[in-house]
Amino acid sequence: MNDCVIHAIYPGSFDPVTLGHLDIVRRALGVFGQLTVAILENSEKEGLFSFAERREIFREAIADAGLEGVDVVQFSGLLTEFAERIGARTVVRGLRAVSDFEYELQMAQMNRRLSPHLETVFMTPSEELSFISSGLVREIARFGGDISGLVPRSAAERLAARFRDGAGGAADDRRGKR
Ligand code: PNS
Repeated sequence: MNDCVIHAIYPGSFDPVTLGHLDIVRRALGVFGQLTVAILENSEKEGLFSFAERREIFREAIADAGLEGVDVVQFSGLLTEFAERIGARTVVRGLRAVSDFEYELQMAQMNRRLSPHLETVFMTPSEELSFISSGLVREIARFGGDISGLVPRSAAERLAARFRDGAGGAADDRRGKR
């Protein structure tokens, strides 16, 4: 039996983290010995929150949830290279529905081509969280809708403050997967 600690990386845009993301973190912690949440900096998508804000929101959400052993970092460049640099051997991605699968499969296969030893593992969130996406949450918050039960407190507070201050944000990416 191989009992060494497996370090997994959970990458994404997390603009902002949702309760679905947090559920995946909780589940990943049950499987992997070490978990790094990695927020992509060089995204083509224009974001609502800065990368530093996303990291702060995620860190607060993890602390509020009482989860331990999770690092939240920002990264730029290729995921495979960053994973190798930090010693992560597994990529965790959440799969909410069949519609996620095509994109995720393509990305997993491309990452395998770039880094044959890096495995991708898909985890599914609780069914009651599977319809949540950051993009829809941003849109609802932008128009003053109720986002309770969709995002952690840290994100809800930042969203309320951001739209109270009149920001538009880039909530036009309805694909808004993560
Ligand atoms: O939350 P998202 O936006 O669906 O996450 C996508 C992410 C960050 C996992 C993906 O875009 C990524 O890994 N980007 C880093 C650049 C890279 O390695 N691109 C090749 C992917 S096959």
